[in-house]
Formats: sequence, C-alpha cells, structure tokens
Amino acid sequence: MTMGVRSIESSISAIANVGGSLVYLAASVISAGVLHPILAPVVMLAVVPNLWASARAAKLAYASYLATIARSRRLSVASGLLTDRETAAEMRASTAGSALLAEYGRISDALTREAVRVALAQTRVRLTGRMMAGIGTGGGYAILGLLLYVGWLALPLAGTAVVAMRLATSALTSTMMGIKNLYEDTLYVNLYTRLLDMTRSRTRPAVPRQVAAPELITVEAVGFSYPGQDEPALRDVSLTIAKGQVVALVGENGSGKSTLGKLITGLYQPTSGRVCWDGADLAEIDEEAVYQRIALVSQDPARWPMTAYDNIRMGRIDREHGLSVADAARESGADQVIAELPDGYQTLLSRLFSSGRDLSGGQWQRISVARGIYRDAPVLVVDEPTAAMDARAEHEVFESLRRLGAGGRTTILITHRLANVQHADQIVVLDHGRVTEHGSHQELMALDGTYASLFTLQASAYAPAEF
Ligand SMILES: Nc1ncnc2c1ncn2[C@@H]1O[C@H](COP(=O)(O)OP(=O)(O)OP(=O)(O)O)[C@@H](O)[C@H]1O
Ligand SMILES: [Mg+2]
Repeated sequence: MTMGVRSIESSISAIANVGGSLVYLAASVISAGVLHPILAPVVMLAVVPNLWASARAAKLAYASYLATIARSRRLSVASGLLTDRETAAEMRASTAGSALLAEYGRISDALTREAVRVALAQTRVRLTGRMMAGIGTGGGYAILGLLLYVGWLALPLAGTAVVAMRLATSALTSTMMGIKNLYEDTLYVNLYTRLLDMTRSRTRPAVPRQVAAPELITVEAVGFSYPGQDEPALRDVSLTIAKGQVVALVGENGSGKSTLGKLITGLYQPTSGRVCWDGADLAEIDEEAVYQRIALVSQDPARWPMTAYDNIRMGRIDREHGLSVADAARESGADQVIAELPDGYQTLLSRLFSSGRDLSGGQWQRISVARGIYRDAPVLVVDEPTAAMDARAEHEVFESLRRLGAGGRTTILITHRLANVQHADQIVVLDHGRVTEHGSHQELMALDGTYASLFTLQASAYAPAEF
C-alpha cells in the first residue's frame, strides 16, 4: 500500500521527465533524419537494448519484492517478538530467545540471498543490454562511415551527424530511464489498485436503513466461516432473544461463543442464514446505526494508550449527558483501581510514555467493563469479562450486569464460570459451532447433558470434601 502511494507520487514526476526528454529526443532524431533519412533508425540501434534491459531489471525487482513480502513480514514479527516488552518475560521463562534469534538469522539470510540473486540477475541483464547497445552504437558509426565512403554524406555533415547521434543517444537514454521508472511505478500502482478493489469487494454497500433498539433479535439458521478457513466456526445456529433478556453462551474453547456474539451485534456478517433485529436483516441496515446500539466488552479488550479517564470515555466518546465516567467505574469496580493510581483518573495507562503506568490483567478488565457500561447501549455483549478478575470483583460485576439487565438491556453473556449463568433467561450450549443444548438452568439440569455435568463438576469443586 505504501509503495503504491509513493509510486503514484513518483510517477507524476516520471511523466514530466519523460515528456521533457521526448521533446529533446524528437529534436535530435529529426536533426539526424534531416542530415540523412537512414540516420534516424540508426540512432535507435544504440538505445533499444538498454530499454529492454531496464524494463527487464525492473520486472525482476518487482517479482522479488512480491516473493519476499511474506518473509519480510516474518522478519519484522520475529524482531518484534525478540524486542517487545510484552513477550520479554515469557521469552526468558521459556528460554525461547535463542531459537527465535536463530529463526531471525535464517529469515534474514534467506532475504540476503534473494537480494544477491536479484542483483546478479539484474547485472547480467544490464550487461547484455549494454553489450548490445555497444554493438548498436558501433553499427551506427559503421553505417555513418559507409555513407561517408560511398559519398552519400559530405564530411562536414557527417561531423554534424556524429553530434546529432550523441545528442539523440543521451536524449533516448533519459527518455528510457523515465519510461523505466514509469513502468516500475505502474507495477506498484497496479498492485495498489488491485488491493483497493479487494477492499471494496469486502466492504458492505452503504444502506441508508436505520434501526432502533431491538425488541426482538432473531438468529436464523446462521452459519459462519472465517475467511480462508475450511471448518465453519458456526453451523445452523437459531436463537430468539427478547429485549431485556440475559442470554448466556456456554461451551468449550473454540466452540464459537465469541463468534456468535459478534454476529448477533452485526460486527460479522453470517456466511449463511440471517441475523434480524425486529425482523430487519442486519445486512440491510446501516452498520453505523447498528454499532450505535451495541456495546462489546471484548475477551481481549483494547488497552488504549490514554489516561484512565479517557480509557473509559472511549466507550462513547461523544457522550454529553447521562451516565458519568465515575458511575461506570463504580459499577465495574474500576473505581478501586483508579483510586490507587498516582494521578487518579488522569494517570496515563501506557508504558510507551515515560510518565505512564501499566495495569494488571484483572485491572485492565475492570476498566474494559467500565467502558462497556459507560457506553450505555441497549445490546451488551460481555465476553468473559471476569476471567482475570478476583472473586469479589467478579461478583460485583455480575451484580452490576444483573442490575443493568433489569433496566431493559439485552445482555449476551459469555463465561466459563457457570455459577454466574444460573439466572440467565436462556443458556445456549455450543459445541464445535453447533447448538447442542438450549434452555433455562433448570431445564438443562433436568436434561442431564453437557451443561449439567459441567455445572456439577464446577459446583463439586466447592462442596466440602467427604471423608
Ligand atoms: N479471527 C479468526 N480467524 C480464523 N479463525 C478464527 C478466528 N477467530 C476464531 N477462529 C476460529 O473459530 C472457532 C470459534 O472461535 P471463537 O473465538 O468463537 O471460540 P470461543 O467459543 O469464543 O472460544 P474461547 O472459549 O476460547 O473464547 C475456533 O475454532 C477458532 O479457531
Ligand atoms: Mg471467545
């Protein structure tokens, strides 16, 4: 992408250069042609091989650029892992540093070998081009000599012709350099427009239809596959969620819970089936309008390099009335975290700046829950909001979520702590992307299936041991 934009810029100056050189060239060739018609094509002999060589060298460089993109990216990923603060402790603890360094060495060796190979191939092509151009020039002078010998050209004119030939050669060379640059640029501009087309084909067309807070969300036989994945992440999932309900999504890792949460909120488009809000297909509603009505507390929340206050305010940055940042912090337990920060709400939460502070995993999660609550949207998806929290914080968060649910908010709750889903209006058990059990806590316990066995397993861990 960057190469494409840079190439558009440089192609503009290349076009100007080519234009200038072409005028110069035309003047020289015409002068040579006026001296003797045969001299015009003779001038070309010296330069055409150079043009071929330059274009060929540009193509070699472009092919090599495409072939090494993936390796260059792997190299920067490896160097990032080796030097990042986030991975530093684990890198040492797992003594993976030297292996990764060796991998870095392997990739950079391969890249160097490729660079040498391309340079050699380009040199060979250029050498051939220059040799042929040399032969062409020699031929040109031979023809000039012949013309002189047979008396078709007077000696003074032949002298002028030599000057004209030299001028034409230098004009042609600079035209060709310009054309070569332009050609090189068009390769990258083509790639750039191809990428833009790809982006356009993946972007949803703008649909003006608006949507209100939904009274009823229906998931109709929805299937979903991630791009480039053969196995679908969800198959044939159907659900009906009324306003104000708490729906718990339960299932083992990779069963499709997070994916379903993103489909219900229109963040992903289903591969098959539909998700409707009050009967309107989300694919036919303005996505911005849908996003205005949702809040997502992600499983892997964003850690904005901003102050604690702004980290919560990011939930709805244009909010002027209603819930305050302090209210949201209190509901999520983030207020306790903020109270212990040196500058309170104004503490910068990023180690990218020298004055910044970092938080623990659970503390970040409280901030992220506060952000979701602050957003104050009618449809809330909370994806394992308390996985890193201590027991008291977790309890408080679920109390808050229940209170918010009572206010008519639809909540999609994803958690592995089944004690917290007992009061949900619906519990959906997912297994490899399919709904295997569906009902209330009592119904699923009576069914005595996966949910009942998992719930009993978790409950027994807290039961007093029998002797
Ligand atoms: N961005 C992605 N690209 C490709 N495949 C993905 C992506 N995210 C998830 N998957 C795959 O889709 C399936 C469902 O993933 P999902 O994140 O919905 O699971 P989950 O139930 O939320 O699991 P967990 O309990 O670990 O959070 C998994 O098999 C996973 O490998
Ligand atoms: Mg998940």
